[in-house]
This record gives sequence, structure tokens and C-alpha cells, in this order.
Amino acid sequence: MRLYILLVHAVLVAQSIAALFPPGNETTHSAAVQACQQLDHTLGPSLVQSSGAEYEAAATNAWNLLNAEFAPTCIVFPQISQHVQTAMKAIYDTGSHYAVQAGSHSAMKGWNTVQDGVLIMFSQMKNASYDPVTDSITLEPGIHWQEAVTAVEPFGVAPVGGRVGDVGTGLLLGGGLSWLSPSQGYAADTFKELDVVLVTGEMVTATVTNEYSDLFRALKGGGNRFGIVTRYKVSAVHTGTNDDKSFFGGTITYNSSSAEALLKATARYVHETNDPKAVSLVTFTNAMADGQIFPVYMALLFYNGPELPTAIFGDFLSIPAVSSQLGPLSYLEVAGTLGLENDRGYVQHFGASALVGDEALFLDAFNHWSNFSATFVDSFNQTTLAFTPIPDSQIHAGRDRGGNIISAPRGQFAAVQLLQQLRIGLQDLPRVLQNGIDLLFEQIPPSPGLPLYLNECDAGQKVFQSYSDFELLKMIYAKYDPTGFNVAHTQGPIGL
Ligand SMILES: Cc1cc2nc3c(=O)[nH]c(=O)nc-3n(C[C@H](O)[C@H](O)[C@H](O)COP(=O)(O)OP(=O)(O)OC[C@H]3O[C@@H](n4cnc5c(N)ncnc54)[C@H](O)[C@@H]3O)c2cc1C
Ligand SMILES: *[C@@H]1O[C@H](CO)[C@@H](O)[C@H](O)[C@H]1NC(C)=O
Ligand SMILES: *[C@@H]1O[C@H](CO)[C@@H](O)[C@H](O)[C@H]1NC(C)=O
Ligand SMILES: *[C@@H]1O[C@H](CO)[C@@H](O)[C@H](O)[C@H]1NC(C)=O
Ligand SMILES: *[C@@H]1O[C@H](CO)[C@@H](O)[C@H](O)[C@H]1NC(C)=O
Ligand SMILES: *[C@@H]1O[C@H](CO)[C@@H](O)[C@H](O)[C@H]1NC(C)=O
Repeated sequence: MRLYILLVHAVLVAQSIAALFPPGNETTHSAAVQACQQLDHTLGPSLVQSSGAEYEAAATNAWNLLNAEFAPTCIVFPQISQHVQTAMKAIYDTGSHYAVQAGSHSAMKGWNTVQDGVLIMFSQMKNASYDPVTDSITLEPGIHWQEAVTAVEPFGVAPVGGRVGDVGTGLLLGGGLSWLSPSQGYAADTFKELDVVLVTGEMVTATVTNEYSDLFRALKGGGNRFGIVTRYKVSAVHTGTNDDKSFFGGTITYNSSSAEALLKATARYVHETNDPKAVSLVTFTNAMADGQIFPVYMALLFYNGPELPTAIFGDFLSIPAVSSQLGPLSYLEVAGTLGLENDRGYVQHFGASALVGDEALFLDAFNHWSNFSATFVDSFNQTTLAFTPIPDSQIHAGRDRGGNIISAPRGQFAAVQLLQQLRIGLQDLPRVLQNGIDLLFEQIPPSPGLPLYLNECDAGQKVFQSYSDFELLKMIYAKYDPTGFNVAHTQGPIGL
């Protein structure tokens, strides 16, 4: 009986991934079996698992339910870079499909796991350390942001990382929008040194000036296509210890009556605020239950100083609010504001846009999103429309550090995030819903010249094509993966 259920489950899984590219077939399956057998010999059975409790926990670990339903042929748990080299060489030599998982928060189906392939899981590489001599933080790829920020807080420093605690270092490879971004750039802009295992298993150390400077740049926004990073050395930001309440801010919550005022305030902030000490995130969330919508709109506002200057934040502060939690905060507390978001078990979907323009443009985006939310109210548990202002200071901080491959031509725009959490019980995006999402992308197109944000896109969005340095990115990809192995054997952003 149990076997029967397992078989039925296997068939269902196989059907639901059938639409994925690249598809698994008997050839790729037997390649993965071969790679796993090799790795079982070279790395040993404790680091390479094909069944059992540790395998099951890892195979079902992903944040997005869609990524917790794959059955990798084996899962490799590296402890040092050399283990990753050994695994990548076996994957390459056998022509296996593969995937890499760090913090597991990719919403994109198949980007952090694999069917009939090898999954490299970084759950045993989670070290973080601070070196005062070089003023750098070294992160192993398996660490999550809350762990990283907590580990180095005693030294009064922080890495530029995510705004949600359970998210991991994959964020760095897509760029990274942080509470520290207005002064430091995208999180990836703080890279100092990266250990990268190339597609053949060779390992190189890339910096802004050495012979791998092109690879170094491509990894600031190029995602998982260029190699596997096994060590990130990043700049330390002197944010203070938890005793230093050097920030001020928090969360203001509004109801739907304040939507228009909040959108206008957001548009003005995006356009006008270029103070590296100021950071904000504005989120419109519709929670759904029993066919009804319960809106919760929020402004998260922080200033690296003793108060929120009214010249910058006055609009938000004067809009009628449901509640307001503002006060002096350490950076550890700022980083903890949004909590962990380790809420697994839901089908999740992302989409991206980027806007520069007047109030009407922001109102328009909101109205389209509201219609979308209302139309599919029965499919969702919640939907969110979020605006992250990207000031010029952020773009310049990145350029000063050698530039990233996102190559945004300017700042003073908003990265727009669309997040949909499906109701429990819905196991995949119904076609009609994907059509609705596609319509929404047409209704909220990115303003001309602005890059889409890789970490929060829909898998079908042409993010790389939106980068000004797309041609350069393609050249770098061709140099480091001349046979196109990664595009053919692992899922990720399209267009290379
Ligand atoms: C709740 C939530 C909050 C978020 N908040 C933010 C935010 O504040 N700012 C922001 O910028 N983004 C945010 N994101 C988006 C986030 O940056 C992406 O989801 C990111 O991909 C997550 O990285 P991860 O390590 O957790 O996920 P994973 O799924 O483990 O990794 C993401 C991708 O990177 C690849 N990858 C990971 N590590 C490596 C490596 N070492 N070498 C090569 N490839 C690798 C994976 O294969 C995968 O394709 C958020 C996402 C969620 C779900
Ligand atoms: C199996 O898949 C691989 C890669 O996706 C493809 O190159 C190959 O032609 C496929 N083989 C068969 C027999 O379908
Ligand atoms: C792990 O971090 C500690 C400090 O937190 C450091 O002393 C140690 O050298 C690090 N180990 C590795 C393998 O990086
Ligand atoms: C929103 O809150 C204000 C008071 O802060 C109240 O007057 C208004 O009726 C509320 N609107 C909704 C839709 O709940
Ligand atoms: C919606 O999400 C909340 C937690 O975020 C959960 O308690 C609830 O059960 C979910 N409802 C559905 C219908 O998925
Ligand atoms: C509202 O959304 C539905 C579903 O995507 C769509 O058919 C309809 O055209 C939308 N209406 C407007 C005014 O955009």
C-alpha cells in the first residue's frame, strides 16, 4: 500500500515537472545515477545521500512548495570547497542535470532543486567570520541572513544582506536589496573575493582586479549560471553592536483608505530621496480568506540617525495609520524587523517590474494589481505588491566598487515586487492564473531602460535582456562555460 502511494506520488511528481526545461529523460537519469555512484565512492556515503531521513529533509527543505516536491537522484552535502569541486567534476563528466541550494528561498520552480539529477546542498557550510585586519566578513554559502548578522554583531559590523532572516546567500548572486543598500549598493557590490567552482570543477578566486575580474562582475547579478560560489568575502559595514541604537525607524501599518496617499508618498520618496542614510520599503498585502480580501499596507522606514527626518519621511508620518511602531534600533533589530519568513508549505510565485515616473504611474500599478488580486481571490492566500526605492547613491556606491552586471543606468526608481502565495491545497499555478500574471506584467511594464530584479522575477521574464551590459554578460558566460553546460543542465535565468 505504502509502495503504491509512493509510486503514485512519483508519477505525479514526474508529470508536474514534465513541462520543465531541460526535461529529464532516461539518458539524464542514468547520467545522474553514474555521477552519484562516483561521488558515493569519492566523497563517501555520509556526504552523498540518495534516501533516508537526511535526504528527505533536504529534498523537501525548499521554501516554495513547488521546489519541495522534486526527487534528486542524490544530494551532496559539501563541507569544504574541494567537495564541491569533486561534485561538479562528476556532474560535468557524466553530463548530469544538477542544482545548488543555499538559503532555499528561490520562488522559481526548479532553480534550487532537480529531478533526476544531483543536488548540491550547502546546509553544512554555514560559517561566518569577521577579520578586523582586512575589515571583511567571510560567509560560507549555507548561512542565512539572520545567522550571519547575529554572528558578527559582537564585532559591531554587519554584511549587506537580505531584509528577511531565513533567506540565504543566493540573494548575493542576483544583486541583493538590503536595508544598507542606499549607502553600500546592491549586496553584491560589497564583494571583495569569491571562491568559484567553475563548470569543469576547477576552482578560481575572483576579485575586482585579478584575471577573473570579468567573472567577479558577472556574479554581481548573473545568478547561478557562472559557477558555484563556495566562499564570499564581503566588506564589513560598521553598523554597531546591539547596544548601539544608531538607527531610528520601524513599521507603520495603514488600512485601505490610505492607499492613495501611501502610493503618492511612495512615488515622491522614490523620485526625491537620495540620502544614503535613509531606506524604505512599502508593501501592499491583500490577505484572502473565504473569498474576502483583508488589506494590510505597510511602510518600513529607517534612518541611520536619532530620528526619521520629516523632510524625508514626513509624508508617510502624516498619513492616517492603523498602528505605528517606531523607535531607536540597533542594526540587528533593523535586520530583524520583518522576521524570518521560514513559512514553508505554500506554492509561491514572484514577478518583477521597475518604475520611474509620477504618482499616476504608481496608482495605476496598484489599480491593476488590485484587480488582479480580486479576480483570483479564491486562488490566493495572499498577494503582495512591494516597492523598494533604489536611490542614485546605491547605483554610485556600486560603480565605485567596480560595477555590477545589472548595470542600472541611474537610480531614483523603484524595484517593484509581486509576490503571490497560493492557498494551501493548490499544488501548481493554474494556466488561467499564469495568464492573469502575464496580463499584469503587460499592465505594469518596467519603465524604459530599467533593469528587472533577478531575485524576484518570474522564471519567464527576460531579466538578463533588461541589463544594459547584457552583451558583456553573454561574452563572459561563453568564456567561462564555453559548451553551454550550465544552461543545458541546470535551471536558472533565461537568455544566455
Ligand atoms: C521571504 C523572502 C524575502 C526576501 N527578501 C529579499 C530582500 O530583502 N532582498 C532581496 O534582494 N531579495 C529578497 N528575496 C529574494 C531572494 O534574494 C531570492 O529568493 C534569493 O534567490 C534567495 O537566495 P537563497 O539562498 O535563500 O535561495 P536558494 O534558492 O538556495 O538560491 C537562489 C538561487 O541561487 C543559486 N545559488 C545559491 N547559492 C549559490 C552558490 N553558492 N553558487 C551558485 N549558485 C547559487 C541557487 O541555485 C538558486 O538558483 C526574498 C525572498 C523571499 C522568499
Ligand atoms: C535527453 O535530454 C538531453 C538533455 O536535456 C537531450 O540532449 C537528449 O537528446 C535527450 N535524450 C533523449 C533520448 O530524449
Ligand atoms: C569559522 O568561523 C570562525 C569564527 O566565527 C573562525 O575562527 C574559523 O576560522 C572559521 N572556519 C572556517 C573553516 O572558515
Ligand atoms: C481606516 O482607518 C481610518 C482611521 O484611521 C478610518 O476612519 C477608516 O474608516 C478606515 N478605513 C477602512 C476601510 O477601514
Ligand atoms: C494562509 O496563510 C496563513 C499563514 O500565513 C495560514 O495560517 C492559513 O492557514 C493560510 N490559509 C490558506 C487558505 O492557505
Ligand atoms: C482584471 O483582471 C482580469 C483577470 O486577469 C482581466 O481579465 C481583466 O481584463 C482585468 N481588468 C482590468 C480593468 O484590467
